[in-house]
Amino acid sequence: MPEEPRQTPPPGPLRLPNARRVLAIASGKGGVGKSTVAVNLALALAARGHRVGLLDADVHGPNVPLMLGVRRKESVRGWEAMLPIGSAAHAPEQRLPALERYGIKMMSVGLLVGEEQSAMLENVSMVGLMVRHLLTMVEWGELDILLIDFPPGTSEPQATLLATVALDGVVMVVTPQDLALLDSTRAMNAFAQSGVPMTGVVENMSYLICPCCDERIQVFHRSQVPRAITAGDVPLLAEIPIEPTISEAADTGRPMIVTHPDSRQAAVFLELAGVVAGRLGM
Ligand SMILES: Nc1ncnc2c1ncn2[C@@H]1O[C@H](COP(=O)(O)OP(=O)(O)O)[C@@H](O)[C@H]1O
Ligand SMILES: [Mg+2]
Repeated sequence: MPEEPRQTPPPGPLRLPNARRVLAIASGKGGVGKSTVAVNLALALAARGHRVGLLDADVHGPNVPLMLGVRRKESVRGWEAMLPIGSAAHAPEQRLPALERYGIKMMSVGLLVGEEQSAMLENVSMVGLMVRHLLTMVEWGELDILLIDFPPGTSEPQATLLATVALDGVVMVVTPQDLALLDSTRAMNAFAQSGVPMTGVVENMSYLICPCCDERIQVFHRSQVPRAITAGDVPLLAEIPIEPTISEAADTGRPMIVTHPDSRQAAVFLELAGVVAGRLGM
């Protein structure tokens, strides 16, 4: 029988049939704690009883696996079968299961592409294909929500990713100094122009609690809060403190929600999860 011609991927953003909600976690620049928020929010949503997936699409710094204690070597066995990227949709039995850590499903561009191949991620159409591939070829199972750790910034590859996957909302992570900065506003505009509803803003590294007297210390100068937030058009979903236990995960692979589930910083994320779920009608 003649071989079927290979299908080109369908145009337009992909809507995942098995994920009820798809939420981007984004930021105008790197290093603000976007992945930290993505990981802890994912775990907090799971702790509230939701079925959660987390896709790390930050091609510039895919560090979600590290934060969840997943090493590339142990996880990519069998992945060669997924290549070549860009082939047509695969039958469920050909798909590879998402990794499971701490009760959530996870997959990362960093697990698919090795350090030595990272140059291919400079090509934005490759980024789009790769993410589409991770969405369609990974067996995510039924999800109440899929969180996507977006690359930081305001142009590419965000624009390509926005065209790749249909989103129900976006959480913008900022630090106090960034609030009024153009980067986060521009990043928000990019989502708005693609018709993605703004779920809200999370201010990370918002304050420090003095270990001696419990006083709330404002470490960073807070920029003037943009009018969109004060006017209530863009809700401020949470203010997250600076806490050593929050940054521990990057080194130990054990997120704060797991190591300190009863702490007040865990409570901040659990509350955030409740607010996000409410905003998304979950
Ligand atoms: N609230 C916080 N308290 C303490 N450290 C934090 C907090 N948020 C982020 N960090 C640390 O800051 C660094 C950058 O965070 P990360 O989530 O990797 O940022 P991004 O994904 O935006 O580049 C990491 O070392 C992380 O552990
Ligand atoms: Mg990151």
